[in-house]
Amino acid sequence: MAMKVGFIGLGLIGKPMARNVLKAGHTLVVWNRTRDKARDLVEEGATAAGSPREVAEKSEVVLTCVSDPPALEEVLWGPKGVMEGLKKSSVLIDSSTVSPALARRAAAACAERMAEFLDAPVTGGTWGAEKGELVFMVGGRKDVLEKVQPVLAAMGKRFFHPGGHGAGQTIKLAMNLILALQVDALAEALALVQGAGLEGEKLIEVLQASMARAAVLDVKAPMILAGSYVPSFPLRLMHKDLGLALELANQIGVPLPATAAAREIYNAVKGATREDVDYAAVAKFWQK
Ligand SMILES: NC(=O)c1ccc[n+]([C@@H]2O[C@H](COP(=O)([O-])OP(=O)(O)OC[C@H]3O[C@@H](n4cnc5c(N)ncnc54)[C@H](OP(=O)(O)O)[C@@H]3O)[C@@H](O)[C@H]2O)c1
Repeated sequence: MAMKVGFIGLGLIGKPMARNVLKAGHTLVVWNRTRDKARDLVEEGATAAGSPREVAEKSEVVLTCVSDPPALEEVLWGPKGVMEGLKKSSVLIDSSTVSPALARRAAAACAERMAEFLDAPVTGGTWGAEKGELVFMVGGRKDVLEKVQPVLAAMGKRFFHPGGHGAGQTIKLAMNLILALQVDALAEALALVQGAGLEGEKLIEVLQASMARAAVLDVKAPMILAGSYVPSFPLRLMHKDLGLALELANQIGVPLPATAAAREIYNAVKGATREDVDYAAVAKFWQK
C-alpha cells in the first residue's frame, strides 16, 4: 500500500533510507538542512519541502534521521518544525539515535496532536541502508508498528519491538556501547601485537578462527590495518552514543565503568582529529 511519506535528514544513512522508500513506490517529500543534499532524490521523483513543518503537513508518515538530540529538537520543535505541521492520525518515526527520554518527550508531543510516535533507531550501517536491509529496534505501540510496516519494509529486513516509547533507543545505546568497546579492544590488541614486532594481520587471522570472532572485525580490522578511516559510522556519532549511554546509566544508577573508560579514548581521538573519520579511527589513540 503506497503511503505519503516525509523524510527529514538526508545524511550518510538517511539518504539511502529515503531512496528506498521512494523506490518502493511511496510518495516522498524530503527536507534537509543543507538543501543540496536533497537534489538527487528530487531528480529521482521526490518533492523538496521548504521546512520540516511542510514535510509534516504533507505526510501520513514522517521519518526523521538526524545526528543527535539537539538536531532532533531543532527539527521537531524549532521554527517551522515538525510539531507545527503534524497531522492528526499521522505517525512520526524517529530513526536517529537519541536518548530514551527525548523519545518519550517526542511521543508525548505527538499524543497532544492526536498523532502517533515510534522510536525506531537502526543498525546495519550505510551498506545495510543502501540494500534496504537495516535492522530496526522499535519502541511504541505494536499496532502503530504494524500500520507503518509498508514503509519500514522498504528500508529494513528485521524489526524488533522491545517495548514502549524509549525501548528502541535503550536497546540501541546498549548495542552501540558493545560495538564501541569491541573496536576499542581490537585497536588495543593490535597495538600490543604490533608493538611486540608482529604484523597485525597475524592477530586477525587467529581472531577470525576463535571465540573472539565478531562481524565487526570483518569491516573494521581492514580499516585499522590500512589506517584508512573513510566514515561509514562516524566517530563523532559513536562518541555521542557513548555519552548517551552514560547519561542513561547515570539517570538509572547503573555503573558502566568499561564504557566510561572507552568514552575517554574516543574523546581523545575526537579532540585530536580534524577530519570526519569512522569510529575505527579510535585506533589512532595508539598509532603515531
Ligand atoms: N551512519 C550510520 O552507519 C548509522 C548507523 C546507525 C544509526 N545512525 C544514526 O542515524 C543518525 C544519522 O546518522 P548519519 O550517519 O546519517 O549522520 P550524518 O551523515 O552526520 O547526517 C546527519 C543529518 O542530521 C542533520 N542535522 C544535523 N544537525 C541538524 C540541525 N541542527 N538541524 C537540522 N538537521 C540537522 C544533517 O543535516 P546537514 O546535511 O545539513 O548537515 C544530516 O542530514 C544519527 O543519530 C546516527 O547515530 C547512523
